[in-house]
Amino acid sequence: MHMSISVAVSGASGYVGGEVLRVFSAHPEVEFGALTAHSSAGDALGVHQPHLRHLAERVIVDTTPENLAGHDVVVLALPHGSSAEIAAQLPPETLVIDCGADHRLVSAEAWGEYYGGEHAGTWPYGMPELITPGGRQRDALPGATRIAVPGCNVTAVTLALQPGVAAGVVDPTDIVAVLANGYSGAGKKLALPYLASEALGNAQPYAVGGSHRHIPEILQNLESAGASEARISFTPTLVPMARGILATVTAPLRGSVEAVRSAWEEAYADEPFVHLLPEGQWPTTAATLGANTALMQVAVDGKARRVVVVAAIDNLVKGTAGAALQSMNVALGLPETTGLSTIGVAP
Ligand SMILES: NC(=O)c1ccc[n+]([C@@H]2O[C@H](COP(=O)([O-])OP(=O)(O)OC[C@H]3O[C@@H](n4cnc5c(N)ncnc54)[C@H](OP(=O)(O)O)[C@@H]3O)[C@@H](O)[C@H]2O)c1
Repeated sequence: MHMSISVAVSGASGYVGGEVLRVFSAHPEVEFGALTAHSSAGDALGVHQPHLRHLAERVIVDTTPENLAGHDVVVLALPHGSSAEIAAQLPPETLVIDCGADHRLVSAEAWGEYYGGEHAGTWPYGMPELITPGGRQRDALPGATRIAVPGCNVTAVTLALQPGVAAGVVDPTDIVAVLANGYSGAGKKLALPYLASEALGNAQPYAVGGSHRHIPEILQNLESAGASEARISFTPTLVPMARGILATVTAPLRGSVEAVRSAWEEAYADEPFVHLLPEGQWPTTAATLGANTALMQVAVDGKARRVVVVAAIDNLVKGTAGAALQSMNVALGLPETTGLSTIGVAP
């Protein structure tokens, strides 16, 4: 049976909005309705997203409840703080998928500490693979009409470490994560560190020392996976690539070395998009570009007594737009993989 799902995309001129339009275009049931944004309203989409030829002549309109009304699905790809206000004005039966941070955190206190301002509330979390006390987060998504898509760094670190946390083979109170990040993670905004003269041939750390906003969301996920207490030292590093995250995540080994690999194998054996690579093969960001995949490898550093996981994702696909589509499929009762590709772009 062919059903048609009308999808409005808000933030259509931005990096995430553009990727939502690209990724959702491969879904056989999706038809795009309103494409909305802010300062670019009135422009043809092709001015801002020249790679989306099939939508080049569509005109961007203002982000208003009126323009977003009457769709089955509304995807919000707006700066954090903007989506809660607009979402509150959309009908309860519309499936609203927020790619921003406004509805991800359970703790209002953590929201206040890391983002500031009033907490907008908590929506069902759009990471189907997340290990939860009862099973997986996908069990909580069918029929949902509000979904909070995870942060991109959060996706990489959570998927990297949750099997070890759930199996009890790592100590979650001493996690260290260092990430190499592509620049699209920062959005299209203009700022000094993002100029080519600063970025090319350079690697720049940012939000060092525990200030990054993704920290409470990572801890929330690892607690979902079974940690009674989790602590992380988290350091992202901008490296000269447009897309991609390579996360190196380590934690002290608990128990036997033999139990480590099987924890990851078992956690992801049936996952269509999260793949533990064959032993000895390490993930690269390039292998995930354009694909809704998370690729990883796990090793034990015997002398350091630490488990080391390296995970790669495309921040704009598995890190955002792909997760949004995957969660939409589950919410609407469609096969979870519909329209989603595991095929990357190489070289
Ligand atoms: N980039 C990533 O890898 C990534 C990954 C996961 C989640 N996210 C989240 O996704 C959201 C979008 O990120 P992005 O990287 O796409 O940012 P971006 O490239 O800067 O795009 C922002 C978009 O929001 C629109 N906008 C800005 N202010 C607005 C307002 N007051 N009302 C309505 N629209 C407004 C902009 O429209 P105009 O251009 O017309 O002004 C633009 O379309 C953010 O919350 C971000 O944290 C990003």
